[in-house]
Amino acid sequence: MNRILEPELMNSLEQTAAYAGPDMDNACWLFVQSFRKYFRNLTPKGTILDLGCGPATIPVRLAKLYPDYEIHGVDGAPEMLAQAGLAVRREGLQQQIQLFHGILPDKLTLPYKGYNSVISNSFLHHLADPAVLWQAIHAYGLPNAAVLVIDLVRPEDPQQAQLVVDRCLPEAPPMLRQDMLLSLHAAFTIDEVRAQLAEAQLEKNLTLTMPTPFQFAAYGHLGLDG
Ligand SMILES: C[S@@+](CC[C@H](N)C(=O)[O-])C[C@H]1O[C@@H](n2cnc3c(N)ncnc32)[C@H](O)[C@@H]1O
Repeated sequence: MNRILEPELMNSLEQTAAYAGPDMDNACWLFVQSFRKYFRNLTPKGTILDLGCGPATIPVRLAKLYPDYEIHGVDGAPEMLAQAGLAVRREGLQQQIQLFHGILPDKLTLPYKGYNSVISNSFLHHLADPAVLWQAIHAYGLPNAAVLVIDLVRPEDPQQAQLVVDRCLPEAPPMLRQDMLLSLHAAFTIDEVRAQLAEAQLEKNLTLTMPTPFQFAAYGHLGLDG
């Protein structure tokens, strides 16, 4: 099926509260487990930048696993950042996690020019132009930075998309199920992601795989020249 764009920013209170709730736990769990699996030899101290951090569920989990890492999250939706701020304060992680408002591809104002790791979960499919994410990874990743991007893969037809929603979010609120359906329509196929990596000259650095039947993961390290 053809790609149907969805709005880039998630800024409604209902949407952000639902997104911060327990229904999205599995997706965040998969991301954090994948990060641990792919990057077993991370330096003990460092910095992580999360692009499109949403309610900061992933930064919070990573902060607990990597207490000597500073984690910066960026999102373009003020309402989503408010949810993220609540989560960070609830967990008492203000010293370790900082949140920034920024809308890619605008230049981000961040404390560091480059990060040891650049990550992004379920963000690519929001972008009208997917090159924006891959360019940001080049722009904000230090040489040899660890990179992990996970997102949905667009199914072949609407029926398959509905099956994925039924399987992943059987009991979720209707709004969240509808959001996921729209996201599946907005997502890229694995061939499209492969072409994006080639276009961004990342295909030699990042391995493309499918950790589930409906998600891709692109992971690896940037080159020594960033
Ligand atoms: C589906 S959510 C994923 C949130 C988070 N990564 C997670 O997995 O829980 C996508 C997020 O990207 C943000 N976003 C979309 N387009 C953006 C852009 N161009 N610049 C910055 N943030 C953007 C949205 O506001 C939303 O919070």
